[in-house]
Amino acid sequence: MLVEIVRMDDFGRGIGYLNDKVIFIPKTIVGDKVNVLVVKEYKNYLIGRVIKIIELSVNRINSKCPFFDKCGGCDLLEINYENTLNYKVDKIANLLKRNDLDLDISIVSNPNPFNYRNKVSLKIVDGLIGYYESNTNTLVNIDNCLVAKEEINKFIKEYKYLNLNNALITIRCNYNNELLIVIESKESCNIDVDYLANKFNIKGIIYNNKCIYKDNYFYEKINNYRFKVSYNSFFQVNPYITSKLFNYLEENINEGIILDLYSGVGTLSIVASKNANKVYSLEIVENAIKDGILNSKLNHVNNIEFIGGNVNKTINMINDNIDTIIVDPPRSGLDNKTFDSIIKIRPNKIIYISCNPNTLMRDLSKFKEDYNFDKIKLFDMFSYSEHVETVCLLKLKKL
Ligand SMILES: C[S@@+](CC[C@H](N)C(=O)[O-])C[C@H]1O[C@@H](n2cnc3c(N)ncnc32)[C@H](O)[C@@H]1O
Repeated sequence: MLVEIVRMDDFGRGIGYLNDKVIFIPKTIVGDKVNVLVVKEYKNYLIGRVIKIIELSVNRINSKCPFFDKCGGCDLLEINYENTLNYKVDKIANLLKRNDLDLDISIVSNPNPFNYRNKVSLKIVDGLIGYYESNTNTLVNIDNCLVAKEEINKFIKEYKYLNLNNALITIRCNYNNELLIVIESKESCNIDVDYLANKFNIKGIIYNNKCIYKDNYFYEKINNYRFKVSYNSFFQVNPYITSKLFNYLEENINEGIILDLYSGVGTLSIVASKNANKVYSLEIVENAIKDGILNSKLNHVNNIEFIGGNVNKTINMINDNIDTIIVDPPRSGLDNKTFDSIIKIRPNKIIYISCNPNTLMRDLSKFKEDYNFDKIKLFDMFSYSEHVETVCLLKLKKL
């Protein structure tokens, strides 16, 4: 059945029509003509899979990734980089329109759209390593990932020395090409550490939450800042874009008292502390809080107070006159309790950083009554995937 792709959806899938029904087809782009198999049929729409490409879109490029057709990541890999940015801007513009929000959009591009990821999580299944196909448990065996840092790719090629048949493995790489290897497996540990440590600069290996080689952390460096990052602490996956995000934050933080919610290892708190009088840094992961305390010392900062626990409770412990709140929540966005507490605090400014535009739109719609916002800046943190990081500046409405 022949389908022509006429537009793209928010998940990077091509959209066409088949027998008057909308059909969503992964790994296609506008202008492609494809023969499809309908893999799922719903009342109002269909999901298809490409059987054969009949005519390639003029906008298609050769991705150079042999795993593109099957792998669940990088949906936009066959679109030229400039157009992937246009796709992200259009996607946010459509979402804003659907939510009745009118904002200027700009996007910051990634200077290294390939080999930028400092962290990948892979499965080892029956001795083979790879990612899962989208929405399945079918492994796509890979030996290279175009968006992962080179050192991570070198490690993937040597994974056999881990001597694992079934495991989940996370490989993190810092500015210095040191590797932190985190493994979860039911198998007993039989890693050829000597071989791997001889070949790579391994900072640590953590096996089922236990450090079995050297350290359970490494140091990351962004701009002139240095951060200790524990194996289970969050850190942005793209150091090149994180650097630009820090610059943007520095430009938009004034003096006063800052509350940084969901603060990870204290990165944004430390960046904000330069201009601020005082920063409160709130985070749930215990190791991340410990890292944060150390990071403030590492960066010669002494005006940050770290508070561990769930933000929806710890936010109520703050009895200070807050000027600015920075929020950088997980994909689920702000829960109702946290939202209500922010409204009660009524800061002059909110800097909302989000990796999920859908929950961002929901939260912005709720802030609309009390706050003005007229622009949104996108940062291409996850190049060649449909995802994008966004920053929105909110200003309190004057009564
Ligand atoms: C998107 S990350 C942002 C981290 C940090 N702002 C940065 O740029 O590195 C979200 C952080 O929120 C933390 N987190 C998730 N749920 C939380 C909660 N209910 N209360 C406090 N922190 C939470 C996670 O552990 C993670 O460190």
